[in-house]
Amino acid sequence: MASTSLLLGLLSLSFYAALASDNTWFQANDYFFSGRHMASNTSNAIGSKLTPVSVAQIPGLNTLGVSMVRIDYAPMDINPPHTHPRATEILIILEGSLEIGFVTSNPDNCLISKILQKSDVFVFPINLIHFQRNVGYGNAVAIAALNNQNPGVNTISNVVFGAKPDISTDVLAKAIQLDKNIVANIQSKI
Ligand SMILES: *[C@@H]1O[C@H](CO)[C@@H](O)[C@H](O)[C@H]1NC(C)=O
Repeated sequence: MASTSLLLGLLSLSFYAALASDNTWFQANDYFFSGRHMASNTSNAIGSKLTPVSVAQIPGLNTLGVSMVRIDYAPMDINPPHTHPRATEILIILEGSLEIGFVTSNPDNCLISKILQKSDVFVFPINLIHFQRNVGYGNAVAIAALNNQNPGVNTISNVVFGAKPDISTDVLAKAIQLDKNIVANIQSKI
């Protein structure tokens, strides 16, 4: 009995030793990404650009519960209101100054907002709607870390007014108490 379990123990030890030395299991490039030093092109309707470093860019992040994003902002432009369904975000400003904010859930819907300068850090709690605006005259750059390898993004204007197919104009007109034509106009733009 004892010798059988000793034999099994030795067998499993050598099995794991063989695995541990099999470094083809681990490739440095699965844990590496280069290229986030470059400013991204912010010539678009909102004037900002997100360049993520999540599990899509670094396969080794799978299951590790962490990712990053670089955000570039043109002067006076925005990262529009959005949520991350699977992550809290902590953001540091590398260049420029940003007005940032998030809104607490119903019934308070309290706007928590602040003007941040270079090297300031701010936290956006998981799932709350948040935004940033570059309030400086030059470009702004921020880096954010998120506690999920695939944090997801729900941009509010896109999910509400840009659903495919559209959410019925009646529903949205009622929800935001606006004329149906105005709602249809917003839907056609997004
Ligand atoms: C940035 O994007 C715009 C719009 O797509 C394009 O016209 C412009 O050439 C791009 N600029 C650079 C430097 O790539």
